[in-house]
Amino acid sequence: GALAATQASTLAFKELPHGYDETMHVAEGYDAKVLIGWGDKVLADAPAFDVDAQTAAAQAKQFGYNNDYIGYFPLPQGSTTSDHGLLAINHEYTDRQLMFKGIGPDDIAAQTKEMIDIEMAAHGHSVIEVKKGADGWNVVDGSKYARRITTSDTEMELTGPAAGHARLQTAADPSGRKVVGTVNNCAGGETPWGTVLIAEENFHGYFTGKIQAVHEVKDGDTAESIAKALSEKAGRAVTVAEVEKLTKGKIEAGKKVKLNVHPEARNYARYGITDEPWYGWANFHDRFDLDKVPNEANRFGWMVEFDPYDPTSMPKKRTALGRMKHEGATTIVNNDGRLIVYTGDDERFEYIYKFVSNGKVSNDRAANSALLDDGTLFVAKLEADGSLLWLPLVHGTGPLTAENGFDSQADVLIETRRAADLLGATPMDRPEDVEPNPVTGTVFANLTNNTKRKDAQVDKANPRPANEHGHVIEMIPPGDRGRAKNHAAQDFTWEIFLLAGNPADAAHGAQYAEGVTANGWLSCPDNMAFDKQGRIWITTDGAPKAGLADGVWAADVEGHGRALTRHFFRTPVGAEMCGPCFTPDSTTLFVAVQHPGDEKGSTFDTPTTRWPDFKDGMPPRPAVVAITKIGGGEIGS
Ligand code: FEO
Ligand code: CA
Ligand code: CA
Ligand code: CA
Repeated sequence: GALAATQASTLAFKELPHGYDETMHVAEGYDAKVLIGWGDKVLADAPAFDVDAQTAAAQAKQFGYNNDYIGYFPLPQGSTTSDHGLLAINHEYTDRQLMFKGIGPDDIAAQTKEMIDIEMAAHGHSVIEVKKGADGWNVVDGSKYARRITTSDTEMELTGPAAGHARLQTAADPSGRKVVGTVNNCAGGETPWGTVLIAEENFHGYFTGKIQAVHEVKDGDTAESIAKALSEKAGRAVTVAEVEKLTKGKIEAGKKVKLNVHPEARNYARYGITDEPWYGWANFHDRFDLDKVPNEANRFGWMVEFDPYDPTSMPKKRTALGRMKHEGATTIVNNDGRLIVYTGDDERFEYIYKFVSNGKVSNDRAANSALLDDGTLFVAKLEADGSLLWLPLVHGTGPLTAENGFDSQADVLIETRRAADLLGATPMDRPEDVEPNPVTGTVFANLTNNTKRKDAQVDKANPRPANEHGHVIEMIPPGDRGRAKNHAAQDFTWEIFLLAGNPADAAHGAQYAEGVTANGWLSCPDNMAFDKQGRIWITTDGAPKAGLADGVWAADVEGHGRALTRHFFRTPVGAEMCGPCFTPDSTTLFVAVQHPGDEKGSTFDTPTTRWPDFKDGMPPRPAVVAITKIGGGEIGS
């Protein structure tokens, strides 16, 4: 029963009830304080936020939109100070209907250039200095560390095996090494030497172009009629023989026949780029139009590293970590000193990856960063018997040869997904955070959901068809189960940690430790953090579909309380919960409330919440929240 369960867990807080309303809630005995939100001052010379007179120039100095990842970097650098540090925060995307008066969610064509430029400036990243005093955490005004990184004007360098390759060159950058901006920065991670890794996730949504000519087969269609339809769309004569090759001779109504048109069509189509972008940036900026700048999209989809302690440092897109819809990337130093990076590709049926450096981590920060350019990328194959194989993505090995269109390691990295397809990696239910537990040494992966998985596609590691609630797996390096250390090994094992959903509803097929309460179950795990004791704190994105607000749930990972999740925090309506991040002493948990009020029918004028200001005329603002225990102490104690 519930009492036994509470005793079984080392987490002592009183559980928060499930719910769904216009504000945030935290477990009794804890304080949640809004630290910074969209439009607040970041740079010393930022103007005060005026939601009715927004400009791109102001936005580029103010806190961006949709905060996701949060990293805490102690001050002074190299210390474990837990009351003074830097927060490095991603701004993943923008919600035009909540930012601009009179603009609906689909009103891209109505957006002015200034609105588009505001969106580009509201993407990227912020670095702020924060300090804890008698009144809790506050942003340090006028900090010398304060920084905004944007899509519009932060210059970055492409490094590693793909840097400089012809497929990364453009008219504006014949070197193939200089790129402006980063986009859709979802989650991230910290390196052992105190730099940030920020992920470029859904980069495809910003680009447009004639990638493929597509025809949906209708009743009565013949190879001739399809050839005619495709000819019109492709702008050239398409032959019947071509159609027969594309359809393999089978013409079935409802099926789509796709003809590659763009020189990068095979690559771009694999990442979902179409002529129907999510944003109207190409209307005003040619580089997002792939008919005009064919290679620009190859310069996105990477992990970006930068030094938060140096506001002038140039961010580096580290191509050795592969090109995909990176959720984030997390690191651990292997028992032999090599750097390990885990990363997930967040889309249905995509893969889990890890990178192993060739060199070892040292005390030299510049040399350490260079480790990210030199190593081997692997992709995970999870077998039914519980074994896990890491398959190397190395040019010239197995199918990764010129015969399959891979002329070099650069090609393997630019088309990481296609390379992983050919190796036979395991398609997962949307890999979000993949993160090593620093206490146990095992690696957790949040698989957020996959409603498209059919019965025939179910496997042991993705065991539910039409997976609405997602699951969490644990990947275990060889050696001592409790304190595994060899992350460079190619042979791991894996286990299901939990299957999310409501355990009281048999139709969900959920699985936790016995005794999870009516409030303790969760849906759609996305990000995670580990506290000092190695307990897992999971944040969710999509729980409203299951009737509850997104929020934070925590569990032990060992002992009786393993996978006994308990509800700690919940967001206002329409929000997802991101960025869980502990101070080194685990007395503060920072969380990011992303897209509050993002619900059907909710707009700038009539939002479903005005959190956190609750002022007429002010729409909801994504914001970062600092959670502390009233009276002090470790979170969860
Ligand atoms: Fe941006 Fe995978 O969530
Ligand atoms: Ca996410
Ligand atoms: Ca994390
Ligand atoms: Ca998500």
